[in-house]
Formats: sequence, structure tokens, C-alpha cells
Amino acid sequence: MHPAGRVVIRAAGVHRRFGGVSVLRGVDLAVSAGEFVTLSGPSGSGKTALLSLLCGFDFPDSGSVLPGPASWTDCAVLPQSLGLATELTLEENVALPLRLAGREVSGVSALLAELGIGELGSRYPGQVSFGQQQRAALARAVVARPAALLADEPTAHLDAESAEAAIRLLRRLADDGTAVLIATHHDAVHAVADRVLVLADGQVQAA
Ligand SMILES: Nc1ncnc2c1ncn2[C@@H]1O[C@H](COP(=O)(O)OP(=O)(O)O)[C@@H](O)[C@H]1O
Ligand SMILES: [Mg+2]
Repeated sequence: MHPAGRVVIRAAGVHRRFGGVSVLRGVDLAVSAGEFVTLSGPSGSGKTALLSLLCGFDFPDSGSVLPGPASWTDCAVLPQSLGLATELTLEENVALPLRLAGREVSGVSALLAELGIGELGSRYPGQVSFGQQQRAALARAVVARPAALLADEPTAHLDAESAEAAIRLLRRLADDGTAVLIATHHDAVHAVADRVLVLADGQVQAA
């Protein structure tokens, strides 16, 4: 579905300062279609800031990024803060990328069930736990099989069994051709990655 080997996510010479502090200092990375890459690094090293640039929520002071501002089918995101629409049910949240793309809504219930929240589709985000919201946000991120997926600590609020289901789903998405980049501290996520990158001192290095 997505041509293998094509670079879908890229940062080239990216610099970003916040309030005079240089957080990203010449970041280079590339993730190709079908690749599953994890990004680790100490808290405060700039992982969230980098993902925000890659998906076009923010803009670099210098350097260039791909995909940048894009549709949900080009680039789906699972932000640390989740960003679910509180006025929509979990099912409606998950269906949103398909509706925005004018595509048939299908596979939503199956995804929720696979992530262990199959009974909760008609609830609103405020009526479920944060970990359950996180799984709904993951389902929303994968439902349209985007060209790129950026996920920020997607297993941070999950128990081991739920995390395992989430990791299996993300790995399958990459195997089906999506370029997947995940900021995480979780060894179980690094374990299934094709490559592990580390963000330290404002730059990305291979682990
Ligand atoms: N929008 C912003 N405004 C000001 N400072 C920011 C902003 N985003 C990130 N920072 C700062 O950049 C640094 C990296 O933050 P962050 O990207 O959240 O790190 P990580 O995700 O690796 O824990 C922190 O010092 C943080 O305070
Ligand atoms: Mg972060």
C-alpha cells in the first residue's frame, strides 16, 4: 500500500529554541515506509518538541521536516495529551480520520476490541480512565492506515497486557507499510523496533 523504502518522516538540520534555550540543535533523522523506529532520551530532552515539529503542530527555527502539516491519512498522531474530542464518543473519535478522508467507516469496533476497550465505544472520554482514553487515541491514530504515525509515549498509562496489545498493533501497522516513529521509555516497545534512536544534547544518535 505504501511503497517500501520511501522516506516518509524526516528531520534535516532541525533547530528549535524555547525562551532562549536551545532544545533541538541540528536534529537529523529519517524513517522509511514500513519501518518501526523508537526514540528514547531523558525526560526534557525534546522528544515531544521534535514530534510536534514533524507533524506540523510547531515549526523549526531552521532546518526542514517531513511530513509537516498534513492530513490524518498522511500523518496520524498520538500526542502525549491524547487530544480526544470530549464531545464525541470513543467510537466517534476513532471514526474521525475515516470521515475526514471521506472513507467508509469500518473496522472501528474491531480495533477497540483488539485493544481491550470493545465495551466502551459509546462512552465519552470523560467517562473512562486515562489508559482507556489512550487506547482510543491509539485506535484513532491507526484506523486510516496512515503513511506516517507519530506516537508520544503510547504505552505510558497501560498495564502490561494492554501495552502488549498496543505494541502488536503498532508493529503490524509498520509491517503493512506505515512509517512509525514512537517516543518511549518502554523496553517492550524498543524490543520490536527496527532501530532505536536516542535524543541527547539536542541531537539524535543511534542507540
Ligand atoms: N512550547 C514550548 N514552550 C516552551 N518550552 C518548551 C515548549 N515545548 C518544549 N519546551 C521545553 O523544551 C524542553 C523539552 O521538552 P519536551 O520536548 O517536552 O521533552 P521530552 O518530551 O523529551 O520529555 C523542556 O525543557 C521544555 O520545557
Ligand atoms: Mg515528552
